[in-house]
Amino acid sequence: MLVQAYNLMAHAFLLCLLFSCIISTNIHACKPTERNSLLSFASTLSSPPLNWTSLDCCRWKGITCDQDGWVTRLLLPSKGLKGGISPFSLANLTHLTHLNLSHNSLYGSLETHFFLSLNRLEILDLSYNRLSGDLPLSLPPSNIRTVNLSSNRFFGAIPSSFFQQASNLTSFNVSNNTFIGYVPSSICLQHSSPFLRLLDFSSNLFNGDLAPGLGKCSELQVFRAGHNNLSGLFPEDIYNATKLEEIALPLNSLHGAISDKIVNLPNLATLDLYYNHFGGELPLNLGKLSKLKFVNFEGALPPSLMNCTNLVELRLESNNFEGDISMLDFSSLSQLTKLDLRKNNFTGTVPRSLYSCRSLKAIGLSANHLEGQIEDDILSLKSLSFLSIGFNRFTNLTGAMKILMSCRCLHALLLSGSFVGEGMPSDDDMVDFHGFQNLRLLSLSRSNLTGQIPVWLSKLKNLEILFLGFNQITGPIPSWLGNLPRLFYISLPNNRLSGEFPQQLCQLPRLLYDPNIASQVDKYEFELPVAGSSVSIISDQHFPQQLFPQQKLYFLPGWIVISNNNISGYIPTEIGQLQRLRKLALNSNNFSGLIPDQISNLKNLEVLDLSTNHLSGIIPSSLASLNFLKEFNASYNNLEGPIPTGTQLQSFNASTFEGNPKLCGAPLPNKCRPNKDMDADNKNNKDEGNGHHQLPWFYIFIVLGFIVGFGVVCGSLVINTTWRYAYFRFIDNLQDRLYVMIS
Ligand SMILES: *[C@@H]1O[C@H](CO)[C@@H](O)[C@H](O)[C@H]1NC(C)=O
Ligand SMILES: *[C@@H]1O[C@H](CO)[C@@H](O)[C@H](O)[C@H]1NC(C)=O
Ligand SMILES: *[C@@H]1O[C@H](CO)[C@@H](O)[C@H](O)[C@H]1NC(C)=O
Ligand SMILES: *[C@@H]1O[C@H](CO)[C@@H](O)[C@H](O)[C@H]1NC(C)=O
Ligand SMILES: *[C@@H]1O[C@H](CO)[C@@H](O)[C@H](O)[C@H]1NC(C)=O
Ligand SMILES: *[C@@H]1O[C@H](CO)[C@@H](O)[C@H](O)[C@H]1NC(C)=O
Ligand SMILES: *[C@@H]1O[C@H](CO)[C@@H](O)[C@H](O)[C@H]1NC(C)=O
Ligand SMILES: *[C@@H]1O[C@H](CO)[C@@H](O)[C@H](O)[C@H]1NC(C)=O
Ligand SMILES: *[C@@H]1O[C@H](CO)[C@@H](O)[C@H](O)[C@H]1NC(C)=O
Ligand SMILES: *[C@@H]1O[C@H](CO)[C@@H](O)[C@H](O)[C@H]1NC(C)=O
Ligand SMILES: *[C@@H]1O[C@H](CO)[C@@H](O)[C@H](O)[C@H]1NC(C)=O
Ligand SMILES: *[C@@H]1O[C@H](CO)[C@@H](O)[C@H](O)[C@H]1NC(C)=O
Repeated sequence: MLVQAYNLMAHAFLLCLLFSCIISTNIHACKPTERNSLLSFASTLSSPPLNWTSLDCCRWKGITCDQDGWVTRLLLPSKGLKGGISPFSLANLTHLTHLNLSHNSLYGSLETHFFLSLNRLEILDLSYNRLSGDLPLSLPPSNIRTVNLSSNRFFGAIPSSFFQQASNLTSFNVSNNTFIGYVPSSICLQHSSPFLRLLDFSSNLFNGDLAPGLGKCSELQVFRAGHNNLSGLFPEDIYNATKLEEIALPLNSLHGAISDKIVNLPNLATLDLYYNHFGGELPLNLGKLSKLKFVNFEGALPPSLMNCTNLVELRLESNNFEGDISMLDFSSLSQLTKLDLRKNNFTGTVPRSLYSCRSLKAIGLSANHLEGQIEDDILSLKSLSFLSIGFNRFTNLTGAMKILMSCRCLHALLLSGSFVGEGMPSDDDMVDFHGFQNLRLLSLSRSNLTGQIPVWLSKLKNLEILFLGFNQITGPIPSWLGNLPRLFYISLPNNRLSGEFPQQLCQLPRLLYDPNIASQVDKYEFELPVAGSSVSIISDQHFPQQLFPQQKLYFLPGWIVISNNNISGYIPTEIGQLQRLRKLALNSNNFSGLIPDQISNLKNLEVLDLSTNHLSGIIPSSLASLNFLKEFNASYNNLEGPIPTGTQLQSFNASTFEGNPKLCGAPLPNKCRPNKDMDADNKNNKDEGNGHHQLPWFYIFIVLGFIVGFGVVCGSLVINTTWRYAYFRFIDNLQDRLYVMIS
């Protein structure tokens, strides 16, 4: 009895166990058809192994099933998947609700029936792939909530009818594709998508106007359609979408004004109308904005703006705002990090209340009509790293520099075009100098500053970029510039600098060849956009017509520009060490001697301007090896001989070489004649290429012998640099003379 009972219990127990086992496997057991579909999906992709090997596909990574073994979620973001989405594999996963394949390398188009078979889909995220083609003809199902097709290469139009079933849609993001046609702004009109919260159409090729309809999107929080070709009026009914937190339409051609109705949008935090044709005055009440960006507005800033206590970025550069800026009270803007009021018509002095905005990192006030002095209250802005106040009427540069040098975070200081006619803060002014320890960019040009380049600059160990052009600076180019460890950009044109080109400048560490940094680009990004296409705009030219918001400015090493000064002597042969140099402008000085052959070592050189000096000798044919050279000017010197033939130097036009009477050959009109001194007995030979048949080898051997002999003698002596320098110049000279004879 007891044994029987025990047996029965044991059997019952085992049965129970088995049963529960079956149940539990049943929950996860995937249907063979689903397994096949998944395997077929995986087989069309070339990607790292997904390890989909076990029998039960519901346990595979990225897969979720429902209780009946249907696959409901396929989530494989950032898995390195490559290939097309096979139309027959996914389409058989008919119970799919979530599909996330973002951040892969999928390509090809979606088949026209894509949504037809996936009629339970709620979440679709195919963002960051390389998918292309039109949207599928089939419409997203009524369950769809999220569609993210952003950052692909889709094209074609998006008809409003596309959404007619999508009554539960909350977010639709197609940014960063190449869609065309109208923005389907009537998406909420037929009550089709009442729950829509997020619409992102930015960075496409949409055009036409924004049709009314968005006002019906009562839940809409984010609307972006920037960076398209939209035109027409700003749709007024947008003020009826009262939950809006962000309207971002920069870089279009929309126009109109900002209406007083903006107060209907109490949650609006970001209003970005940058680079459109909006205009007019700002409404008196702007609500609670935290980010404001727009251009083309005029008039005074409404005092209510200063009640936007959440303001983080106030970007109003290149507008026509006017009025006394010192009347504005910034003291409630404790979150403000970026203030950009550059290129407006503001008057007055820097408002003291600005110094209470302790979060400020960047201040742009340049190109206004501001006056007064920099106050030491500015030092309470402990995070200030970008200060641009040039092209105003500020005074007391020495005072300003003494204060600002204690600004520990300061990276970029742009003062060009202010403090006009003052003296460069001298070393006597800057005794106990210990400041500017993080300064990377200093721009002090276009101010007619007098005095010399002061020694305190030599202590700026992080200085990378120095602009001092268009002043009245006298004295020499200091040799210690060559010791600044990070300097890669020197711009000193249009001054009265004299003396020789310091050889030490040819040792600038950042410009020497370095295999470790050869491939890496030194990038310097500003807190605020600085300028248009060229670096020179921020300082050496006048203030730009427009600032280009999307343009972060990269400074590439390296520049040495000393045009329009009074520098004399030779161009040092050591210049050949600055292999990372991209621009060398020595024009309009008093340089004499030869063009050193070593310039041909500057393999990255793009611009070489040697014009209007007293350079003599020939143009070294080795210059032809400068593959990146885009601009070259050697005009108005005393150069002679033929322009090296069969090289890219001849692709420059004649003006590059004009003003050198003894220079000949294409592209100059005057043909080269056989050298009268050397080839007096060969007058008939017009082909300069044949010249070497008549080489006076005898002379060459004598000369070579002399060079070697001189070298041995000098090498055995301890000679100082000047002598060595003279020796090498002598050899260079001889080499070039020989070259003239050979060519
Ligand atoms: C998809 O389903 C169809 C019919 O329902 C079938 O013929 C086809 O083989 C299936 N494809 C895959 C990959 O399972
Ligand atoms: C597949 O397994 C290998 C080896 O265990 C592992 O390195 C890899 O990350 C797995 N792949 C996925 C998609 O989990
Ligand atoms: C898709 O996956 C990525 C990566 O995990 C995630 O950032 C993204 O939010 C997911 N998409 C959706 C719609 O949930
Ligand atoms: C929309 O969502 C709600 C709540 O999530 C759900 O009850 C309803 O069935 C959905 N409607 C459609 C058409 O899918
Ligand atoms: C795609 O958009 C949805 C909705 O805006 C978002 O939740 C998801 O994170 C986005 N995907 C990625 C990869 O950012
Ligand atoms: C839309 O997707 C892009 C990525 O492609 C993302 O940067 C952007 O933030 C998304 N838009 C919204 C409103 O979430
Ligand atoms: C735009 O899409 C490309 C790929 O198509 C991607 O590399 C880039 O990061 C995307 N840009 C943004 C701002 O998301
Ligand atoms: C905005 O809504 C109000 C009332 O809800 C309505 O009278 C008005 O016509 C709407 N405006 C637009 C432009 O649709
Ligand atoms: C700013 O806010 C204060 C306090 O809430 C209020 O008294 C003042 O009228 C507001 N100023 C403007 C211009 O809206
Ligand atoms: C400033 O005002 C002057 C005269 O009122 C006007 O000509 C000019 O266009 C305005 N704007 C700027 C940015 O100077
Ligand atoms: C220049 O500024 C310094 C520092 O603020 C100050 O001490 C000096 O008096 C100022 N000089 C003039 C002429 O205002
Ligand atoms: C600087 O001086 C020159 C010559 O005296 C003058 O032409 C120029 O307008 C001055 N520049 C400024 C910014 O005042």
